[in-house]
Amino acid sequence: MALEKNVKSVLLLHGPNLQLLGSREPEIYGTATLLDHVATVRTAVEKLGWVLADAQSNSEADLVAAIHDARQNHAAIIINPGAFTHYSWAIHDALSAYSGPIVEVHLSQPLRRESWRHVSVVAPLAIGTIAGFGAAGYELAVAGLSHYFQSQH
Ligand code: DQA
Repeated sequence: MALEKNVKSVLLLHGPNLQLLGSREPEIYGTATLLDHVATVRTAVEKLGWVLADAQSNSEADLVAAIHDARQNHAAIIINPGAFTHYSWAIHDALSAYSGPIVEVHLSQPLRRESWRHVSVVAPLAIGTIAGFGAAGYELAVAGLSHYFQSQH
């Protein structure tokens, strides 16, 4: 069903290993679970009168398919691509073919970590990247999108 013009649908995507959040290296990624982060984004999005769809996958193909689907069905993408951030040219190309705003989120600050994490093939396609603020980064991503859409008018 088509949404009313001003009701934006946001797609929140998570890449590999992020279903383990909460128990995966909590000293780096915190103790909040993926469900907690999704709930945070949903609350923030709904406060704006928008709606949220979300998906997590360990498979590059699934993430590419979800990004293709977003071309028709979602006004914006918030993505934490996990390790795909650093080398998935397939995700890069799928995001290139998406015309809406993209926000890249990382719980940790990859630039303070191993050198292989210093490259993001997603960052050049994002209107902004939020990294290093832990769970708060997800709310900041929604705030960034809200600001972006307001500045479009
Ligand atoms: C991450 C950072 C990536 O380098 C890593 O591979 C992840 C999580 C983050 O949220 O900090 O899986 O995207």
